[in-house]
Amino acid sequence: MKNALTFLLLIITFIFNSCVENKKDFIIGVSQCSDDAWRRSMNEEMQREASFSGNIDLRIKTAYDNNQRQIRDIEELIAENVDLLIVSPNEAAPLTPVIEKAMDEAIPVILVDRKIASNKYTAFVGADNFQIGKEVGVYASKLLNGKGNIVEIRGLKGSTPDLERHNGFVSSLSHFPEIKIVYESDGAWLRSEANMRMSEALSKVQSIDLVFAHNDEMAIGVYEALNSSNDIKKPIILGIDALPGADGGIERVLNGSIDATFIYPTGGEKAIQTALQILNKKPFSRENVLYTAVVDKTNARVLKLQTDQIIQHQNRISKLNEILNINLSQYTTQRMLLLSSLVVLGVILLLLILLFRSYRHKNRVNSQLEKTNDEINRQKEVLSEQRDQLVTLSKNMEDATQAKLVFFTNISHEFRTPLTLISGPLDNIAANEQLSTEGKKMVRMMKRNVHVLLRLIDQIIEFRRYENGKMQMFFRYDDLKKFIGEICGSFRELSRKKRINLKYVVDNADFMVWFDTDKVEKICYNLISNALKFTHENGNVTVHLSKELINDEEYAKITVTDTGIGISNDHLSEIFSRFYRVDNSYSGSGIGLALTRALVEQHNGNIGVESSPGQGSTFHFSIPFKQKDISVTEQYPVLLVNNVNLDDVFLADMEDETDVAEDQNQESSKQKILIVEDNYDVRGYVKSILQSEFDIIEASNGKEGLLKAMRKIPDLIISDVMMEGMNGFELCKAIKENINTSHIPVMLLTAYALDEQRVTGFQSGADAYIPKPFNEELLKIRVRKLIENREKLKEYFKKNLTFGEKKENLTEIDKSLMSKFRQIVEESITDSELSVDAIGLELGMSRVQLYRKIKSLTNYAPNELVRNIRLKKAEHLIISSNKNISEIAYETGFSSPSYFSKCFKEYFNESPTDFMNRVKS
Ligand code: FRU
Repeated sequence: MKNALTFLLLIITFIFNSCVENKKDFIIGVSQCSDDAWRRSMNEEMQREASFSGNIDLRIKTAYDNNQRQIRDIEELIAENVDLLIVSPNEAAPLTPVIEKAMDEAIPVILVDRKIASNKYTAFVGADNFQIGKEVGVYASKLLNGKGNIVEIRGLKGSTPDLERHNGFVSSLSHFPEIKIVYESDGAWLRSEANMRMSEALSKVQSIDLVFAHNDEMAIGVYEALNSSNDIKKPIILGIDALPGADGGIERVLNGSIDATFIYPTGGEKAIQTALQILNKKPFSRENVLYTAVVDKTNARVLKLQTDQIIQHQNRISKLNEILNINLSQYTTQRMLLLSSLVVLGVILLLLILLFRSYRHKNRVNSQLEKTNDEINRQKEVLSEQRDQLVTLSKNMEDATQAKLVFFTNISHEFRTPLTLISGPLDNIAANEQLSTEGKKMVRMMKRNVHVLLRLIDQIIEFRRYENGKMQMFFRYDDLKKFIGEICGSFRELSRKKRINLKYVVDNADFMVWFDTDKVEKICYNLISNALKFTHENGNVTVHLSKELINDEEYAKITVTDTGIGISNDHLSEIFSRFYRVDNSYSGSGIGLALTRALVEQHNGNIGVESSPGQGSTFHFSIPFKQKDISVTEQYPVLLVNNVNLDDVFLADMEDETDVAEDQNQESSKQKILIVEDNYDVRGYVKSILQSEFDIIEASNGKEGLLKAMRKIPDLIISDVMMEGMNGFELCKAIKENINTSHIPVMLLTAYALDEQRVTGFQSGADAYIPKPFNEELLKIRVRKLIENREKLKEYFKKNLTFGEKKENLTEIDKSLMSKFRQIVEESITDSELSVDAIGLELGMSRVQLYRKIKSLTNYAPNELVRNIRLKKAEHLIISSNKNISEIAYETGFSSPSYFSKCFKEYFNESPTDFMNRVKS
């Protein structure tokens, strides 16, 4: 491709160069003042000369004796950007400015034949007109023998040859006083003008011996004027120019029209030669004076022969030139043809190369495409196989799900009977049997939980009915305002217990609506009970009934707004999905909201939710006032809202925090266990298992649990994992990271026995993990074991006064605390004033915190521990040094040797002196 392009470029450059060759090297402008034989001869000479050099574009303009026209001609040539000007000015003064202008624009000017009124020109080519005039004078005086009358017909007044020729002529005649110019007139270089002037002279002057006409043209005019007069004596006629050819001066001398003429060379060749020298920056002479000579009867014939020959030569040269031009143009045409053929050939070649390349490219792409095609086909096959597999798989899964759901529904039905059979007898026992307070409490708890199970089972069955399209709707035309008011009323007691402000707000409008009372009741119970469940003490729950228009249809809109914990955006879109649960911190089956949506849809309504975490949630649903295909006359039995025992249904879920048993305040010798569990019944149950052996502290959520752990420093914490707010893992982590509580063993309880939860549990620092449902005995054993381990650790410490070896039973935080404590004491061992306060200050703990911590880790009060460390050091000194008892007493920071001996005896059961004697012997 690159090569082809280079080739094409070469061809184009070649053509361009060829074209440039045709361009002339120089443009020379010629401005002639007049058009006559002499001028034409000069022009021909210039053209011939220019053609020899080959590269000159000669542009000739003629002014026909008109100054203005000549000025215009020159201006035009300047505008055409000629490289040089050759001018023969008509008159000197009028033409001077335009010539100077050309010079100012750096265009060289060669004046030919005539001059201007200034010296501002590049070169001059022409004869010396003064000299010619002078020679004419000498010649005339000779012919007249020094005596006679002369008529002078002069050239155009204002042109330099006229004045110069006249002056030269007069200067010669001044030597001959008897020769007189009897008549003098301006013939303007023209034959006709001279004819008239001569006729005038003849009429005015008697005797004329000689007429001097400044050029041959005017001399012929004079001759013609004389011919037409009757005067017999013809004067001698002299002219200037001596042009060859027919009607030229030489011919006129030969045929006797005029007597003599003086050669006045046209100088065309010289002008072109000088121009080329100037343009090629070669040396040239500024003033080029051309020769002159007289032509009369004596030499006219020879001259004619010569000039004829010259003319013939010139004609031949012109012919040759013509032939040359024809050949040249043929050559140019042929060259152009050749070049065009080359270009066409180049283009064809280029096209061929491109064609070949694109063919090759196409082949390559084709084969690539074939490969891709094969690959796509292969992938298609794989995909279709995978799709088939997926279809089978999803069908299997669907079948399995269906089978599970059917099983689930069946089993739910199966549960109903036994649960009913438990519920009934429980009612009987509660009503009839003589029970202890504890027994009554147990029965109440059992009843509540049976109801929870029944409600859940009902929800599952109802949802399955909806999914199978078998849910039946019983629409009634009823007052929705009153109906929802009653539902809200039934939540009054519960909300009061939970210290939540429950409000019911209704817009001022009529709310007679077609709805299924049973279903709307379930929807409202679900939304309101959820709102109460997730709203903290002193929060608000507002139920608002209003009207809205959707597509011009009236809807009743029920909004339940709470100031509870809120739901994050990630969960909002999924919240109404079947079995979806916001996260594991919350209890619940994940069926409630899915069923709620189903029930709303059965009313041809819609449901939605907006929420921001930490601020609260707003659930709303709308049902149309009218149901299609239902006539007003259809009536269904009313289901009374008050039939439902709310306490039975919801209380198990919503036990008030105030129900947490007040902790025993009085000090007891029993170990303390903190139970953190949000389910009232489970908490009560665990408590009932352990309360005979231990003092029990209760907390209904993680935060409260942490607070109580810090306040009471229990000997063990049992915590549920799934709790709202701070869950069990978080609680455990917080306990283990706090210096005041880090030593307390934590046991986690959860309904999930999943391994990864167990791992998370241990990662948070839990000491034990018990899955629900748990066995009473097992729980007791694990609790005792954990507390025992703690006691053993204290014992161990009592003997060894070091924690270094018992790593696995201590948190890092406790290990570091103990080693710091020991270090502080050892560093100030001689200081008998070292106080517990000072140690606490260094450890960043208050006196009480330090006391509790040290006591629970070692069973010693901090000051006892300080003393024991001193005694251990003393024991070491007795064994390893030669110091006496009192020295050792002071060195280990005892205020007196007697106090030291007393303490030593208490701790080691032997006086220091006895011990020393025993060791030394
Ligand atoms: C031609 C001519 C000549 C003459 C010359 C003077 O135009 O009239 O005959 O010698 O010009 O400039």
